Amino acid sequence: MIDVLIVGGGGAGLRAAIAVAETDPSLRVAVVSKVYPMRSHTVSAEGGAAAVIGAGDTLDEHCYDTISGGDWLCDQDAVEAFVSEAPKELIQLEHWGCPWSRESDGRVAVRPFGGMKKMRTWYAADKTGFHLLHTLFQTTLKYQDIIRYDEWYVTKLVVDDGRVHGVVAVEIRTGRVETIPARTVVLATGGCGKVFPFTTNAAIKTGDGMALAYREGAPLKDMEFVQYHPTGLPFTGILITEAARAEGGWLINKDGYRYLQDYDLGSPTPTPKLRSMELGPRDRLSQAFVHEQEKGRTVDTPYGPVVYLDLRHLGESKIDARIPFVRELCRSYQNLDPATDLIPVRPVAHYMMGGVHTDIDGATPIAGLFAAGETACVSINGANRLGSNSLPEILVFGRRAGIAAAAFARSHAGQAEASAVRAQGADERRRLERVRGGGGHGERIADLRERMQHTLEGAAGIYRAGDVLTKAVDTLADLGERAQEARVDDSSTAFNTELISLQELHAMLEIARTVVACALNRQESRGAHQRTDFTARDDETYLAHSLVHRAPDGSPSVGLLPVTITRWPPGERVYGRD
Ligand code: FUM
Repeated sequence: MIDVLIVGGGGAGLRAAIAVAETDPSLRVAVVSKVYPMRSHTVSAEGGAAAVIGAGDTLDEHCYDTISGGDWLCDQDAVEAFVSEAPKELIQLEHWGCPWSRESDGRVAVRPFGGMKKMRTWYAADKTGFHLLHTLFQTTLKYQDIIRYDEWYVTKLVVDDGRVHGVVAVEIRTGRVETIPARTVVLATGGCGKVFPFTTNAAIKTGDGMALAYREGAPLKDMEFVQYHPTGLPFTGILITEAARAEGGWLINKDGYRYLQDYDLGSPTPTPKLRSMELGPRDRLSQAFVHEQEKGRTVDTPYGPVVYLDLRHLGESKIDARIPFVRELCRSYQNLDPATDLIPVRPVAHYMMGGVHTDIDGATPIAGLFAAGETACVSINGANRLGSNSLPEILVFGRRAGIAAAAFARSHAGQAEASAVRAQGADERRRLERVRGGGGHGERIADLRERMQHTLEGAAGIYRAGDVLTKAVDTLADLGERAQEARVDDSSTAFNTELISLQELHAMLEIARTVVACALNRQESRGAHQRTDFTARDDETYLAHSLVHRAPDGSPSVGLLPVTITRWPPGERVYGRD
């Protein structure tokens, strides 16, 4: 019997696995991942990881930036734990071999990042996620007892009587369906950016972990808060890191004008010398783009309107030293050189602030089920995550979830495998065989997926309105029913990617419905959730998390949960570095 089964081989999952292995080597740990772990989306993180380092910065300041950046929707006890553990995690990574960029005197280098008033973003050039994931993966190899199920896709959590007992998973290479009993399960499958048509997220980010938990009765939290990153390449959505602006890049409109100076980015008393308007918070920058578009000051391209990111004044040597990956991406995917050319960019869906409702140790309301990373909502990101907080988040809460799961597994070691496990596993196998056997003669998976993505972008994009959201509720419910009958042409067992795509579509439709339901319910504007029909923040009613459960008929049922305030009472959002 597996003691701790981790679903997801990215940063949070691998950090959890290491924590279990270090806590108690006698426990059996397994990592199930639908891709080889080094292909997890963590690998594509670019700009850096925030943690207080050195003199001139304090834990309280990092807390305050995170809380005000999140428009006071963060749970402050979680933020305090996060901020105090983040430096230890980044130093631990250093000890495991992460090549942090350094100053010429040998100290770890830090760069400014959006919404952070102090320079505290550690980086490894602009391939931070690549180095971080490598470091974690290679560290897991020390623990030869960690069992790996690479390229297995989990289709179901086995839950009985309020407690998790394992998972059912398909081996993608062979089509074999197996029930894997486990005392605890940690969900770490990342976010769900693919519910949107234009996203920085890899194709694998389909909300699988969120949907697995939600279907079994665990609530999701704050699903309406979707972060748009202001600088994605048109067509591909590939991220051009905020580090490019941190290093001095400018955003200009079609007239060559640094348009952000016309907008309130939340900084009433900026210090002109160090002010970098391009490092305003992501939600405000993305909203400013929409206003530029409305004023006719963006540039039309076959892939939608764009503005330009101008790095030319930085010079070739700085670009190559600090942001070499930006140059590589621009050359490969846009056929331009940022040392001499302007980069076309537009806002792109990037990150889900919401996720599976957990406590500060990753525990969900289902006994033995934990979640960490973007899959979870602890919540430290509130209504708008600050850039570079997500890499330390996967480390801090991956570790916490691993330790908590290990403790749960130890205290429930004597329990026999639940009798329901076999029955649930057999039902799930039959369901998958029906689908693979040609069940469903309706529409194509790709058509339904595209319809879902465009519905979501239209209703739950940078700006939202009640009437559009209401229509989207019906459209998505209808798509959900049609997806049950979607056409599956491939009946083979080996690498049946059509079967997997359909399971991913089911997961995304569940998630998309929760995003729209939560956005409709929240009749205010806060952070990344901007309602054109309710333009003000309303602390009286909505200084609260959205908590959404799946009703027996499959529809989302939304309620509110108080926010934990410890030391920072709600105030105005203030940005700008001093
Ligand atoms: O722009 C970036 O490098 C993104 C960082 C983040 O989302 O934390």
